[in-house]
Amino acid sequence: MTTVLHQFAESLGTAIDAKDPHTSMHSDEVAEVSHALALTMGLSPREADIIHVAAHLHDIGKIGVPDAVLRKQGALNTKEWQAIRRHPELGANILKPVAALRDLGVVDMVLHHHERWDGKGYPARLRGVQIPLGARIISLADSLSAMLQNRPYRNAMDFTKAHDEILRCSATQFDPSVVIAFRKSADTILKMVSYLSNKEQAA
Ligand SMILES: [Fe+2]
Ligand SMILES: [Fe+2]
Repeated sequence: MTTVLHQFAESLGTAIDAKDPHTSMHSDEVAEVSHALALTMGLSPREADIIHVAAHLHDIGKIGVPDAVLRKQGALNTKEWQAIRRHPELGANILKPVAALRDLGVVDMVLHHHERWDGKGYPARLRGVQIPLGARIISLADSLSAMLQNRPYRNAMDFTKAHDEILRCSATQFDPSVVIAFRKSADTILKMVSYLSNKEQAA
């Protein structure tokens, strides 16, 4: 994993976060949490770094989703949902020309970050271990980060509530082994997300 690749991933993640006033630092947060989960699961530092890079880039496909849809307050209609649900494929297409990202599995992690353990996710309705491990890790980190953020239609959840919600969705939405890693590393992850949100407020 080259430093340059990581730096580019971080800057592209920040670019996509800048499109949405509610999600500044979302990509950084997902990247940090994914890295911690990967290490807790016993993956090597190199594997954890690759997942970290994929996590910075996970929502890059939102660049192709109209701002009017991304920023819409209130319920989305079917067409708008379809536009949002295309972002994993758009993201994979954007990243595919970078051979290193393909070879490291980053493109597939981005493509499958909205799959669910029970097979009810998208775009491919993969289930269980068919879903790349990195994508299963990013999925949990992504949901945690989303729950901790204020949205136009609801206030941020506190960490304990988000934690319980993740445990409740083990084996339906999330890989149970990733959920176990989350339980084990919850204290570290809480410190991590608190640090990032203080940094965001100071900015
Ligand atoms: Fe990073
Ligand atoms: Fe996403």
